[in-house]
Amino acid sequence: MKLLIINGPNLNLLGSREPDIYGKQNFTTYFIKLQEKLQEAELEYFQSNIEGEIIDKLHMAEGNFEGVVLNAAAYTHTSVGIGDAVKAIETPVVEVHISNTYSREEYRHRSFIAPNAKGVIIGFGLQSYELAIMSFLLKDQ
Ligand code: DQA
Repeated sequence: MKLLIINGPNLNLLGSREPDIYGKQNFTTYFIKLQEKLQEAELEYFQSNIEGEIIDKLHMAEGNFEGVVLNAAAYTHTSVGIGDAVKAIETPVVEVHISNTYSREEYRHRSFIAPNAKGVIIGFGLQSYELAIMSFLLKDQ
């Protein structure tokens, strides 16, 4: 199953950015381990600090991927455009966050992605990504 992971702004700094909140692991290292572990999934990784690039990538996901795992980072709480892009495409999108955004500042409690996401996984550290991928690999009962 072809799945796309999209990370938004500042997530290129994972490992060195606020390690008490986001951990000490760099995403590229984690991504390689994740792909080795979940052989059923064919993963692609995209990161951008630019809102429009994330929107373009969501549009490109249509027809090319069976699902998207999206951590829009700070744009989650601000971007009507990314929320609209998630709504515009047929490809299911699972929203993820590394930290538990509900235990943090109130401005992180709002998501423009969630209303149009297939589901939301929040607060499990980098394992949030694995849980999101697992949700796509689960077979219907
Ligand atoms: C984040 C939570 C956001 O509020 C924050 O702006 C991020 C990362 C997370 O994964 O916990 O950059 O999306």
